[in-house]
Formats: sequence, C-alpha cells, structure tokens
Amino acid sequence: MSSDAKPRVFVTRNIPDAGLEIVQDACDAEIWTEPLPPSRDVLLEKIAGCDGVLSLLTERVDAEFFDAAGERLVVVSNYAVGFNNIDVPEATRRGIRVGNTPGVLTDATADMAFTLLISAARRIVEAADYVRDGAWRTWEPRGHIGLDLCGKTIGIVGMGRIGFAMARRCHRGWDMPVLYHDQYTNEAAESELGARQVDLETLLAESDFVSVHVDLNETTNGMFNAKAFEAMKPTAVFINSARGPLHVSSDLHDALRDGQIFAAGLDVTDPEPPAADDPLLSLANCLVVPHIASATIASRNGMAEIAANNLLAGLASEPLPCWVNPDVGDDNSRARD
Ligand code: DGY
Repeated sequence: MSSDAKPRVFVTRNIPDAGLEIVQDACDAEIWTEPLPPSRDVLLEKIAGCDGVLSLLTERVDAEFFDAAGERLVVVSNYAVGFNNIDVPEATRRGIRVGNTPGVLTDATADMAFTLLISAARRIVEAADYVRDGAWRTWEPRGHIGLDLCGKTIGIVGMGRIGFAMARRCHRGWDMPVLYHDQYTNEAAESELGARQVDLETLLAESDFVSVHVDLNETTNGMFNAKAFEAMKPTAVFINSARGPLHVSSDLHDALRDGQIFAAGLDVTDPEPPAADDPLLSLANCLVVPHIASATIASRNGMAEIAANNLLAGLASEPLPCWVNPDVGDDNSRARD
C-alpha cells in the first residue's frame, strides 16, 4: 500500500456522526449499518486485511479475531469504557493498540444507577404498569409501599470514576452515609463524602443499597452470587449498571423471589439480551433496562469522538488519547507502511 493511501478500517456499527465523520474523512471505512451486530463469520470476513477496527462491546476481540484481521491490524478502538470483550494481553503481545472511551459517560452512568435505585426502591415501574393496566381504582393507604432513601447507607463496590459519581449523588442529594469496597483507597471519596472503605462482607451486611461499579474480569465474574445476596439485608436493593456477569442471574432470581433482598435494578444482564422467558423478567421486584446507561446525547457523541480519535492515533502509530495498553510500547513493527 502506498503511504498516501487511506488506511482500511471496519466500524462494527453505526456510531454517532460525531465520530463517524472523523473516521470517514481519514480512512477507507466500511461501516456495518445493520441494527444487529455482524455474525461472527461476517465480522471475521470484514476485518480481513484491515489496518484498524472500531469495535463495540458486542464483538469478541481475541486471538481468532486478530488472526482473521491479519498482519496489517495496528489498532482496535472500542466504543465503550469497558473492554472485557477484548483479550488485551493478546493484543499487547501482538503489538496491537487498544483504546476505550472513559470519562464522557461517567455522569450519565451514575444517573442511570441512581435512577434504577430510586425506581426499584419506590417500585415505579410496577406502579406505572398498574395504572396502564387500568387497575388503579382509588388511593390505597397500604398499596405500593416502597423504601425510604434519605439517610440510608449506600454501599459502592468499585469506587472508580462512576462509583464516585454515584456515591456523590447519594451522599449530597440524599444524605446517605457511604461505604465502599475497592482494592484501592479513594482519598477524594473519603475526604469529600466521608466514605468508609470496608471489606465486602461488611459492605453487604451494613448497606441498605448496593451498587456495583467494577470491571468485569476473572476475579469479579459472578461476585454477586447466592452467598453475597444472603449476606445482604432483606430490605436491600441491588443495582448493576456495569456488566451482567458480575451477578449470577439464577442466584439473583432466587434471592429476589425468596425475599432475601427487596429489589434489583439492572442496566446489564447475563446473557445480554436476556431470553424473553428469562425468569428474572417475570419478577415484579426486578427492574431491567437494556444497557442504556451511556445513552445520552453528550455521552454517546463523546464516546464516538474519543473512539474515532483513538483509531486515528493508532493508525498513525501515535499514543492513543485513551489507551488501554500503553505497555504495547513504541514497537512500531506493525506500523502501517
Ligand atoms: C461501556 O461504555 O462500557 C458501557 O457499558 C456502554 O456505554
């Protein structure tokens, strides 16, 4: 390929124009515009010979993917802050740069976690369905009783950017004392919000609401299992706006069905999407929305721009603005000719 030829890239879905236009201007880009992701076979076919791929969390980016792309591939830019869909060590081993989109979705995601919390605690969807179903006949003194929020204890599992933003909402808006569990101490959360770092057992036992904000990896996979739900208060609300496999769906179902916890609010499920007959969907105390925490105009545009700029930086063998594996180093052996 001559040095002035545009790099070939595949964009695995129709992302917002804020990023798409940047990619289309600079690259020979093929965009997958179907509403559903390409099948695995089609994906592997489309990426063959590409210099870069702009991927979504729905694509598994692993050794098979890199083999199918071939030697030209220098960068995979994920349109998400999470990158559990990508085998990063394998990318690094092959000298392929990986980017993600942190920061721009922090507030939107924390807003969603809080929305799920207040909605699940106050049984909002159940109540709205009740009206829609024509069941509302009078003001009911004992009907639709939910939980109070003010002054209750919020337990944040994973006090990173999003966990902190959620804790801030709970503490500043609703006077909630904050407990958190994280491998790192978050000085800002402790000084600004009086957050107290505790072990997971203490957090589960003492929190009225538990909101999870950790990465999905081998250690965190399934961390919210039967034992964790048993350790929570019967009035607890569990919120997951991070990744579905952080909770064990069947254990969560049983805990909600048996009243071990009061309610759950999920932006993410396992699998995703859940089957229409997934038992969790039959429970009135389980509120599920379709992985929409970052679905605001500013967040999605911001993600698109960062993803596009990561892609272009990788194609130019420059540091990525949001670089997951900077340890890939300056080995430009895969640099475009
Ligand atoms: C992410 O970015 O990881 C979210 O799950 C989707 O915005």
